[in-house]
Amino acid sequence: MTDMRIPPVREMDIARPCAARIYDAFLGGSHNLGCERAFMEDLERALPHIGESYRENRAFVRRSVEYLLAHGVRQFIDLGSGIPTIGHVHEVARRRTRDFRVLYVDNEPLTVAHSKPLLAGEPRAEIIRVDCRNPQAVLDSPEAAELLDLDQPVALLMAAVLHFVPDSDDPVALVEAYRDALVPGSHLVVSHLTGSHDPDEMRILASRYEQTTDPLHPREVEWIEKQFGDFEVVPPGTMYLSDWRPEPGRTSAKRPYRLLYGGVARKH
Ligand SMILES: C[S@@+](CC[C@H](N)C(=O)[O-])C[C@H]1O[C@@H](n2cnc3c(N)ncnc32)[C@H](O)[C@@H]1O
Repeated sequence: MTDMRIPPVREMDIARPCAARIYDAFLGGSHNLGCERAFMEDLERALPHIGESYRENRAFVRRSVEYLLAHGVRQFIDLGSGIPTIGHVHEVARRRTRDFRVLYVDNEPLTVAHSKPLLAGEPRAEIIRVDCRNPQAVLDSPEAAELLDLDQPVALLMAAVLHFVPDSDDPVALVEAYRDALVPGSHLVVSHLTGSHDPDEMRILASRYEQTTDPLHPREVEWIEKQFGDFEVVPPGTMYLSDWRPEPGRTSAKRPYRLLYGGVARKH
C-alpha cells in the first residue's frame, strides 16, 4: 500500500458549522447545532433548491448499497460516514439481510460521539474516529480486524467525502491506495461535488463552505471518473447522481440538480 502521510487528529470545533451536521440538518436529522441550522437557512436563501442535492446524495448511497446487496456484497467500509441516521448503510442492509458488516469512519469528534449510541444496539456496525486520508489506520484498525474479513471483497464507499480532501493531500494517490488494498471482487462507490454543469452555483456553495470547518474542493467530472482507475464501472456508468439507477417515476428530467457526480465500480 502507498505510504500516506499521517494527518493530524481533528479537534472538536463547535463554534463553526461542520459538514457532518450541516448534512444532518439538510436530511432532517436532529444531530445538529444552531450554527448549522443558521448556515442551512442562509444557504437556502442563496440557493433555494440546494437541499435536494444533499438528499440526492443520500438517496444515491441508498441505491448503490441496495445494488451491492443485490450483487452479494455483505461487507462495507463507509469513509466520511457522517452521522449514520436517516437511512444509512446498516439500515439499508438490515432490510435485506442479517448477514452484513459495516465499518463507519469519520474524523469529526462529535459525529463519532453522536454515532456510537446510535449503533450501540447493532453488533454488525461500528464507527471509528480515524482520518480517511490514512488508509492504513482505517484498514489496520482493530475494529476492521474484528468486524471485517479483508481477504474477502468489500464495498468501499467514498460518498461526498473526497471533495473535503484538498489537492495538497493528494486525493488521487489516496484513492489509488484504497483501490490497491482491496481484493478482487471488491467495489468502490464514489460521489463527489462538481461545478462542471453549473459553475456559478458551485462557486456560491464553495464560498459558503469557507465559513465552515470543512472547505470544499469541487472537481471536474473527468477527474471524478478517473478515480475508478482500472475497476470496471458497473452499468449505467458514471453520471450525475440523480441519473444513476433512479427509482421508477423519479426521472432525471424532473431534476435540474447537477452538482454531484459519481458511480460504482468493481475490481477484477
Ligand atoms: C457530507 S458528509 C457525507 C456522509 C455520507 N458519506 C453520505 O454520503 O451520506 C461528509 C463527511 O465526511 C467527513 N470527513 C471529511 N473529511 C474527512 C476525513 N479526512 N476523514 C474522515 N472523515 C472526513 C465529515 O466529517 C462528514 O461527516
